[in-house]
Amino acid sequence: MCGIIGYIGNKKAGPILLDGLKKLEYRGYDSSGIAVIDGGVISVIKSVGMIEALDEKCSGGELLNGTVGIGHTRWATHGAPSDVNSHPHLSSDKRFAIVHNGIIENFESLRTELKSLGYKFVGETDSEVIAKLIQHLYNGNIISALRAVIDRLEGSYAVGIISADKPDTLYAIRKDNPLVVGLGNGENFIASDYTAALEHTKRFVLLDDKEIAEITATSTKFYDINGKLVKKTPYTIEWNIEEAQKGGYNHFMLKEIYEQPKALTRTLRPRISGDEIKLDKIEFDAEHLSSVERIDIIGCGSAYHAGIVGRSFIEKHCRIPVNNFLASEYIYSDPITGPKTLTIIISQSGETADTLAALKLAHSRGSKTLAVVNVVQSAIARAADDVLYTHAGPEIAVATTKGYTTQIVALYLIGLKMALKKGTITTKRYKELIRGLTKLPDKVEDMLLETEVEKIKEYAEKFYNHKCVFFMGRGTDYAASLEGALKLKEISYIHAEAYAAGELKHGTISLIEDDTLTLALVTQEKLYHKMESNIKAVKARGGTVIALASRANSKIKSCSDLLLTIPECDDDISPVLTAVQLQLFAYYVALKRGCEIDKPRNLAKSVTVE
Ligand code: BG6
Repeated sequence: MCGIIGYIGNKKAGPILLDGLKKLEYRGYDSSGIAVIDGGVISVIKSVGMIEALDEKCSGGELLNGTVGIGHTRWATHGAPSDVNSHPHLSSDKRFAIVHNGIIENFESLRTELKSLGYKFVGETDSEVIAKLIQHLYNGNIISALRAVIDRLEGSYAVGIISADKPDTLYAIRKDNPLVVGLGNGENFIASDYTAALEHTKRFVLLDDKEIAEITATSTKFYDINGKLVKKTPYTIEWNIEEAQKGGYNHFMLKEIYEQPKALTRTLRPRISGDEIKLDKIEFDAEHLSSVERIDIIGCGSAYHAGIVGRSFIEKHCRIPVNNFLASEYIYSDPITGPKTLTIIISQSGETADTLAALKLAHSRGSKTLAVVNVVQSAIARAADDVLYTHAGPEIAVATTKGYTTQIVALYLIGLKMALKKGTITTKRYKELIRGLTKLPDKVEDMLLETEVEKIKEYAEKFYNHKCVFFMGRGTDYAASLEGALKLKEISYIHAEAYAAGELKHGTISLIEDDTLTLALVTQEKLYHKMESNIKAVKARGGTVIALASRANSKIKSCSDLLLTIPECDDDISPVLTAVQLQLFAYYVALKRGCEIDKPRNLAKSVTVE
C-alpha cells in the first residue's frame, strides 16, 4: 500500500521525509519521491525502485533546502512503476505538488475533461489528475479549491498537498483512506500511518473523511466540506515503531486477515456497477469465447488452490471443462493447449518463476492468457495477454490470506462475466450471485467481529499439540479445505492433509484413531447428508470433528464434537468465508505453538527461482 509523509517545521524537510519513507517501506512499494518548497519553488526528486535509489538521488534529502515538504512510497495500481508515475505529482504550472494513497475511480473522465481544457499529463496514474484538478479549481483560496476538488473526486484518497503560493503551509484531504496529523513542538506532520512520524511525536489528530487540514509549523486548522472549522481532540499513540507498522496487530498475517473486507471491496467495487461486471480492459469476445473448448488454471501454493475453487465455480456456470495445474508440473508435461484453450494464470506476487514459465509455455502454443495478479506490472502481469488485478494491497506475511480470497473473488467475476456472455447462466442466477458477491466484504467483516474468533482461539488452545490434522469437504468445500490444510501446515508446522470426504473410505479412514482431529467443511446444502455420514464415519473411529458449516447447516452440530459457522451466503461462493475461519484457526494454533508466523521457516513470499 502507498505511504505518505509530510513535514512542516524549522528543520530541513528532506532528511525527515526520507527517514519517514524508510519507516513506511514495510507497506510494500515499487517507487518513491519527495517534494520540498525551496525558495518559493517546488523541487521534486523521485525514483522507481527501492528508497536507496531516491536516497542517492537527493543525498539523503540534504540536496533540497526548505522546511516544508511531502514524500510518498508508491504501490502501483494504475500505471507501471516508473520515475514519471512516481509521486509527488505536479500541477501543470508547478505551483502545487501532491502525494496520493488510494484509487480515484473517476480519474479517466477527469483526465479527459482536464485534457480538453489544455492540461498536459506526463504519466498514466490516476493520482496525477488531483494535481491538475487543484490548479484548475484554484482561484487564490486553497481551502475553497480543495473543497471543490473533494466534490469532484470519486473513490478513495488520502492526499498531501504543498503550494508554492503558500510556502508556510501544508494541506491534506482524505476519504476512505487513512491520514493522520502528527503534532510536534514547532513542527507538524501528516502521515498515512503513525509509523512515519512516531519517532518525532506520539500526539496525533485523525483527519476525517472529506475534511481539509491546513497545517503550519505552529498551528493546525481543520475544515469540513462546507468550509466550517472543525474542532479536533489530539490523542496519544503508545506504540513503538514495530507495532505501528503492524497497525497494532501482533503479526502482519493477522493484520492482513482483518484487511480482507477492504481488500475484497477493492477487488469487487471497481468491477461491479448495478448488474454489470466490467473486468477493466478485459472483454470476452463472444466469438473467441465460443471457440474456447477448455480452460486451464495454473498457479503454485495457495494460488493453485484458488484456481481449484475457481474451477468448480467456472465449470458450474460456464459449462466449459476446466483443468487445474500446478505450474511446476505443467511446464514439464508437454501440455495439450492452443488457441482453443484459455489459460488463467494466478499469482499474488506476479513473479513466481514456475508460474511465469507456465504462462510463457501456454502462450507459445497459442493459448490466450489471462493473469489474476496482485502486484501491478509484475512479470506475469506484463507477460499475459490480459490481466485482472486483485488490488489486495501489498501482502507482507509469507502465508497469503487476502491475496488468496481476492484471487477467488476475481475468478468468480471472470466466471460470471463469461457465463453471461455464453448464455449459460440465467439472469436470475447471475443477479443472485452478483448480490452475493457484493455482500461478501460485510460478511467477512461480521465474522471478524463476532464471537466466532473467540471460539477459534478456544479450539486452537485445545488442539495445538496435535501431530496431524485432517480437512475434508465435498465439491467447493473440498477445494476450500485444500487451502485450510496448507495454511495450518505453513505456519504451525503441524502435518495437515485435505481430502475429498467421499474418499474417506478409500484410504484416509485407516488413519483415523482416538482423538484424530478432522475439520469438516459443510456449506453445500445439496451435499449435507453425504457430509453427515462422513462425519459419523470419522467419529465412529474415535476421531474428533470440528464442523465448519453455514448457519443453515448448523444442525450438523448434532453429529460433530464442535462447530464453527459462517454467515448465510450463496453456497457457490462460501469458500471466501470458510477461508477466513481456516486462516484464523491456523493463526491461533501457530501462535499457541510459538511459531514465527509472518516468516515461517524455509518459506519465501515469492519463489522467483524454479
Ligand atoms: C509461496 C507462498 O512461496 O508461493 C504462497 O508462500 C504462494 O503463499 C505461492 O501462494 C505462490 O506465490 P504467488 O506470488 O505466485 O501467488
